[in-house]
Amino acid sequence: MREVLRSADSIPTSVVDPIAGEFDALSPAYDVISAARTGQPAGAIAGGPVRALQVRAVPPAPLPMAQAGALVPSPSSVDGTLPLADRFGRVASDIRISLTDRCNLRCEYCMPAEGLPWQPREEHLTADEIIRISRVLVGLGIRTIRLTGGEPLLRKDLPEIIAALHAIPELEDVALTTNGVLLERQAAAIAAAGGARLNVSLDSADPEEFKAITRRDDLDRVLAGLVEARRHPELRPIKINAVALKGVTEGALDGLLAVASSVDAELRFIEPMPLDADRAWTPDDGLSGAQLRDLLAQRGELRPVETAKSATAQRYELGPGGQVVGFISSVTEPFCASCDRLRLTADGQLRSCLFSHDETDLRTALRAGASADELEALIRGAVWAKPQGHGMNEPGFEPPDRPMSAIGG
Ligand code: 5AD
Ligand code: SF4
Repeated sequence: MREVLRSADSIPTSVVDPIAGEFDALSPAYDVISAARTGQPAGAIAGGPVRALQVRAVPPAPLPMAQAGALVPSPSSVDGTLPLADRFGRVASDIRISLTDRCNLRCEYCMPAEGLPWQPREEHLTADEIIRISRVLVGLGIRTIRLTGGEPLLRKDLPEIIAALHAIPELEDVALTTNGVLLERQAAAIAAAGGARLNVSLDSADPEEFKAITRRDDLDRVLAGLVEARRHPELRPIKINAVALKGVTEGALDGLLAVASSVDAELRFIEPMPLDADRAWTPDDGLSGAQLRDLLAQRGELRPVETAKSATAQRYELGPGGQVVGFISSVTEPFCASCDRLRLTADGQLRSCLFSHDETDLRTALRAGASADELEALIRGAVWAKPQGHGMNEPGFEPPDRPMSAIGG
């Protein structure tokens, strides 16, 4: 056990900060899914207006809690448990747990066409192991667990995992990120297991463009999955996540807005990050949140929507219909200073940041018989070492060794 408890000696003793929960607002708009085809989702992959993504050199942002001076006790410090804090005063309250590194799509900004050398399945945490770690995390103040991948719907035991998470009393929020391909078939089982807030990835509602981006002809399955998900209140709110790709997203906007409105989903745009397995990312690949806001403002007034301070998306209502749109501008407007997230890879490595170069091996500890206290020490050590920021815009930035699909988005 000794060697796996490597980071337990730097445990925090005092930093506290309350992190508000995330609020979701939904567009009341309703339409049929075929509206996707009546939008104007055209635009060739390589065509479209070419404007460089403006990457501001952002110095490490001052941390709000450090500035504030007065520290307010978090719920966990009130009941005597130390908050899960890092050296910069941020308190972790949210974890993304990857269930597999495998995926049934091959999105060009994520995976090579031929896939990746997959992790051996025996290295993946079992459902029991995931639940054991989750209980410890929730005991330390984690309140949101998002299941992700790879593609989490490839895990046969997904409903079982969701049901067991719902049985952890203090866990407030179970969420799921999926590419939607298998959603039509599995939505009912996920809902019956207690449900999850859904994020569905969709970059274009044009079949040819979808196929070019994902290298699979599965748009209809994703759309059918969204329609089916909408029938289950346990799967709401639904968010559609589109990676903002220059030359694609400009022409895909109307199709995406039509799909989002037809399934009562918020539509969010994510700036592409250097997490592709091919390491082909450049800052020019993406449209920035600011560029997208300009494009959307041509379609109607954008009214800011109040959002929790730890939320990653800046959110607005659009035009008279009030469709909610969000912008996750990790590259041009980093939000590291208020980040309350951790990540657990499918093979049981805890990461305090998407871009970390360090991981804490919870799987080996668990399989060596670690107690809850020993797991807690490992988790606290990993959080304490969380880097201040991703440093994406600084010289010498090195992407993490694992691609997004092997970390968990
Ligand atoms: N940059 C930004 N977003 C990405 N995603 C996958 N790879 C990248 C990347 N390199 C998105 C997926 C999904 C979420 C899990 O992360 O499209 O919406
Ligand atoms: Fe699969 Fe998501 Fe990567 Fe696309 S972005 S290949 S859906 S893991």
